[in-house]
Amino acid sequence: MTPRASGFLDLASHEAGHLVHLLDLAARIKAAPPRDRPLEGRSLAMIFHKASTRTRASAEVGMTQLGGHALMIARADSQMGRGESVADTARVLSCYADAILVRTFAHDVVVEFAEAASVPVVNGLTDLLHPCQVMADLMTVREEFGPVLARRRVAWIGDGNNMANSWLNASRRLGFSLRLACPEGYEPDPGILAAAEAEGAEMFRNPAEAVAGADVVTTDVWASMGQEDEQRDRKAAFAGFRVDEELMAGARPEAIFLHCLPVHRGEEATAAVVDGSRSRVFQEAENRLHVVKAILLDLIG
Ligand code: CP
Ligand code: NVA
Repeated sequence: MTPRASGFLDLASHEAGHLVHLLDLAARIKAAPPRDRPLEGRSLAMIFHKASTRTRASAEVGMTQLGGHALMIARADSQMGRGESVADTARVLSCYADAILVRTFAHDVVVEFAEAASVPVVNGLTDLLHPCQVMADLMTVREEFGPVLARRRVAWIGDGNNMANSWLNASRRLGFSLRLACPEGYEPDPGILAAAEAEGAEMFRNPAEAVAGADVVTTDVWASMGQEDEQRDRKAAFAGFRVDEELMAGARPEAIFLHCLPVHRGEEATAAVVDGSRSRVFQEAENRLHVVKAILLDLIG
């Protein structure tokens, strides 16, 4: 039995065995969704300080399918919008809800939320990390290539953003090869990168080098939520980092393409790749549902 985590904030703070347990559970849920309403009477409060389609819908639908309930606490029409503190909000919501999912900007806010809450907190994305998404990505990789992730080689192309940081944490924990190609000035978090490099992750400037021999090629938008003002500069900086069919040709013939979505076709990846035969982006999006159900069941089931 793997130890039960008190929340799901970042992949680095979970042992490999626990992450694999969650991935196995997600696969079982996908194959045979529980019909016995295991989260009956349980509530998940959800706080989104940024837009979301997949994270919000998968968590809300996931709770409903497990017999529980999810409620959205919008900043604008809650007291958070009038300055009620993170800690007070966390303390109060803990009196009503069994778990809280938070999507926000600064990672420190989700950590502060978790410290003040007396129920588990799930990170639904911060500027630093997006752990639930990378779990869904790992589930997709296992579906394609089998359960042993340590045998795989993953290439990350583009921005050293929240997704790249979570991939680095995953590679460190699960022991697969991760080769990144990021433009100068757009590298991942230095501490997260250094820790993963110590376990074998490699950084390149040339996307073709990172992709050579990869099983999985993955990328993300060039400007994340909150970086809208940088869009023009970023387009110039990332010009050589688009995933196209030529770049994919350098990966293994069986290689798949992943993207957390939303995608800008023609920017970070061509439409031919996003909608092509190697793309698994919608399977990956579906897996968000199975993964969040596994995480919630593990935390409050
Ligand atoms: N991939 C992802 O987190 O999507 P949303 O922003 O739609 O939640
Ligand atoms: N890196 C992107 C991911 C969106 C799901 C962002 O933070 O906007």
